[in-house]
Amino acid sequence: MIIAPSILNANNLQLKKEIGKAVDAGITRFHIDIMDGHFVPNLSYGPQLVSDFKREFPMIDAGIHLMSDNPKTLVPEFVKAGADLIELHYEAMSEEDLDYWIDYLISNGVKAGLVLNPETPISVVKKFAPKINQLLLMTVHPGFGGQGFLPESSERIEKARSLLDKNGFNIPIEVDGGIDDQTAQIAANSGAEIFVAGSYIFGKDSIQAQIDRLTEVLK
Ligand code: DX5
Ligand code: ZN
Repeated sequence: MIIAPSILNANNLQLKKEIGKAVDAGITRFHIDIMDGHFVPNLSYGPQLVSDFKREFPMIDAGIHLMSDNPKTLVPEFVKAGADLIELHYEAMSEEDLDYWIDYLISNGVKAGLVLNPETPISVVKKFAPKINQLLLMTVHPGFGGQGFLPESSERIEKARSLLDKNGFNIPIEVDGGIDDQTAQIAANSGAEIFVAGSYIFGKDSIQAQIDRLTEVLK
């Protein structure tokens, strides 16, 4: 089980300190939400944040959740910035473009992830499963932190796990949105192995205590 904190709800003027606290609590990978104000109605970070992150924390993985329908401009920039993983939304581009950008990531030594919104059929995974390193299932509608875990997510996780298993794809399922100490267990029981958590970890009294609690329930 891997916990990947989303820094979206961290104090942005204290990012180095807050990321450092999470690293001290055992975190080895972060989830960096890139929102373009077009594919989702919100704006967040650009490539500079990622290059600064990798300079300050070279041993820690930077996973990019790319909520943008402009891969042509952004994917090469995030690769250059040092992203370790880039996750592309199925809904953001044509299947041909998705195929092209997954290949682009592979040939640049960057891990590739496919992301599905809550309403996208799980069956689309089959086509891309042979190439991707992981599957991210959104458990909220993307755009904002602090939303509630959609209850239909459990069934979707189970469905995706069984589709992947049946076809011999040993790739992990990541969940993102509304993950706390209760919903993480629900998602884990359905087959998720990587847990993004934003507002559960940041903006509370103790980042360490929140990570410890999540780690404990996922044991
Ligand atoms: C939502 C983002 C999530 C979000 C998670 O669009 O993709 O990564 O920051 O935040 P919480 O854990 O608060 O739902
Ligand atoms: Zn995200």
